[in-house]
Amino acid sequence: MNRPVLEGVRLNAPAYVRHAKLVDWVARMAALTEASDVYWCDGSDAEYDRLCEVLVAAGTFKRLNPALRPNSYLACSSPSDVARVEDRTFICSERQEDAGPTNNWMAPAEMRALLQTGRADGTPGLFQGCMRGRTMYVVPFSMGPLGSPIAHIGVELSDSAYVAVNMKIMTRMGRAVLDVLGGDGAFVPCMHSVGAPLEPGQADVAWPCNPTKYIVHYPETQEIWSYGSGYGGNALLGKKCFALRIASTMGRDQGWLAEHMLVLGVTSPAGRKYHVAAAFPSACGKTNFAMLIPPSGMHGWKVTTIGDDIAWIKPQTDGRLHAINPEAGYFGVAPGTNDKTNPNCMASLKRDVIFTNVALTDDGDVWWEGMTDTPPAHLIDWQGKDWTPEIAAKTGAKAAHPNSRFTVAATNNPALDPEWDNPAGVPLDAFIFGGRRSTTVPLVTEARNWIEGVYMAATMGSETTAAMVGGNGAVRRDPFAMLPFMGYNMSDYFQHWLDLGERLERAGAALPKIFCVNWFRKGPDGKFVWPGYGENMRVLEWMVGRVAGSAQGRHNPFGITPRYEDINWDGLAFSPAQFEQVTSIDRAAWLAELGMHGALFEQLSHHLPAAMTATKADMEARLAA
Ligand code: OXD
Ligand code: MN
Repeated sequence: MNRPVLEGVRLNAPAYVRHAKLVDWVARMAALTEASDVYWCDGSDAEYDRLCEVLVAAGTFKRLNPALRPNSYLACSSPSDVARVEDRTFICSERQEDAGPTNNWMAPAEMRALLQTGRADGTPGLFQGCMRGRTMYVVPFSMGPLGSPIAHIGVELSDSAYVAVNMKIMTRMGRAVLDVLGGDGAFVPCMHSVGAPLEPGQADVAWPCNPTKYIVHYPETQEIWSYGSGYGGNALLGKKCFALRIASTMGRDQGWLAEHMLVLGVTSPAGRKYHVAAAFPSACGKTNFAMLIPPSGMHGWKVTTIGDDIAWIKPQTDGRLHAINPEAGYFGVAPGTNDKTNPNCMASLKRDVIFTNVALTDDGDVWWEGMTDTPPAHLIDWQGKDWTPEIAAKTGAKAAHPNSRFTVAATNNPALDPEWDNPAGVPLDAFIFGGRRSTTVPLVTEARNWIEGVYMAATMGSETTAAMVGGNGAVRRDPFAMLPFMGYNMSDYFQHWLDLGERLERAGAALPKIFCVNWFRKGPDGKFVWPGYGENMRVLEWMVGRVAGSAQGRHNPFGITPRYEDINWDGLAFSPAQFEQVTSIDRAAWLAELGMHGALFEQLSHHLPAAMTATKADMEARLAA
C-alpha cells in the first residue's frame, strides 16, 4: 500500500503492515518532522548491505579491508557526539517525585511544547521540520526473542541510516516484528532525530547532529523522544532508553526487573550449570566478564554468554527468577580489548562489525589503545588526523576515542550460551554487583540475606569513566549500576527489589544469592593488585560454591568473604599478602564509606525503605564492635 499523507510525501507502508495505529503514528511523525521520504526497514541482509552502501556514499562509513575485516565498517562521529549525555536525559513523569532526585525532570506538557508543539512565545518544537531533506526510517524491533512472553516490541523512527543498521545488529529488527505485532499489538514509540535538517541544495556532513540534545522518556505513556545525537545509547533507543528506563517502569508496575546486568552461564567440571547476573557501571569490564575464559589452572570450568549489558528478569511458575537478554548484539567499548583481556570478544570482531570512533590502519583495518602492545607506526585517528606513537607521546592524543565502540551480533560470539535466545529465559542462581574502586571495597563479599544484598547494591559506588560525558575518575554512588538508567524514583526501586524478594521468599522460592565484587583495588604502587579478566573465574567458582553449599567463608561486618584457603589458586601465583591487599577491611575507610552511604540516603530520603537505614545501623554497630 502506498498511502499519500502529505503533499509530496508518501508513507510507503508495505502491504504487510496491518497496524492502523502504527501507520497513523508514522504519518503524524512524518508530518511533524517534514521528512522528505519514509522507508520501512524489513531487517533483511540485503537491506543492511544497501544501507551500509548509502552510509559509505555519505562518508559516514568507511568500508574496512575485506581481506582483513570482512563485511565491516568504521564510522567516526562528530567530536561533540561521543557518549551518552546524562545531563540532557529526562524522565518526564507527571509528578516530579516519581522521577526522583537522581533524574532530570520536566513536566510532560512543558517538554512536549519544547519538542513537539512549540512554545507560547512562538519558538517551534525541536522536532518540527527536523527531518527536512532526510529519509525517516521506520525500524520495528523486538527486545527479547520474537514472540517470547518476556519480550516487548518497539518501533523507532529515525532520520539516521547509521541507527537503522546498528538496530539491525542490536535487536531482532524488521518485518518479522510487524508480523508478531499484528493489527493491534502494543509497541513503544521511539522517536529519534539527529536534529540536522537539510535545506534544498545543502550538502550533508558525515556525522549530522545538533549541539542541542534531549533524551526524553515519558514513563506514563511509555514514549521515548531523542533529539540531537546519533551516538550509542542516545540514539539506539532499544537499549538504555527502552530496555532500562521505560522497561524499569514496566517492571515496577508488572512485578519484574529490568536491570543493567550481564547474564552468564557457569558450568562446573562436574557438569552442573549455574546462571549468574552481574551489574557493573559502564566501562567496568562487563563485556569481558560476560565472555570470560577460565584460566588454564581451572580446567573443566566453562563460561558462556547470555547477555553482556541488560537483563529482563521475571518470576516464573517454578518460583524462580528467570532472565532474558533483551538485546541481540553487543555495543561494547573497544579500548583495552585484546587477545589477553577478552579473546572471545576479539574472535567475535573478526567480521560483520560496525566500529565507531576507533582508529584506521594504513591497510584498512582498525586499531585502538590496548589492542596490541606495540601500536602501528601510523594511523588515522578517530578524528581523521594522522597519528603516530611519537605524536601521541608529545600530545597525549588517543588514536581511538576512550568510548569508542563495536557493534556486533551476539551470534558472532564463540562463547554464546545455547540458551541465549530461549524465550523462557534462564533461572538465576546469583546476582553480582561491582564497581570500580581502588580502595575500601574487598574483592568479594556475600550478603547474608536479600535485604543486605539490596543494601550492597543500593550503596554501590564507582569511579566514573569515559562512557559518560565528563567522566573523570571521581567516585560516584551508582545504585545497582542503574543511576543513569532508572526510569523512576530510585528509592521506590529499592522498595520494588525488597518487595519482590519478600514475595518470592514467602512463596518458598530459592532466591538468588547476592554478592558484591571489586576487581579494581590498587596497591601502594598505584597498580591493580588483582589480575582480573580470566582470573575472575576463581571468584566465580567461590560464588557458585556458596550457591551449591560447598564453599567456605568467614563473616565480616558486611557479609561473608572467602579466606585465602577458600579460593582455588591452581596455576596462579597470588600470595596471602596480595590476597590481604584485595580483601582487607580498613575501619577508617569504612567509616568514611558508611558516611557516604548516609549522604546518599539523605539524597534519597523520600520513600527510602526503612530496611536500608536499619541495615546501615547494623553494619555500623558491627564495625564498632
Ligand atoms: C553502555 C553503557 O553503553 O553502560 O553499555 O554506557
Ligand atoms: Mn551498559
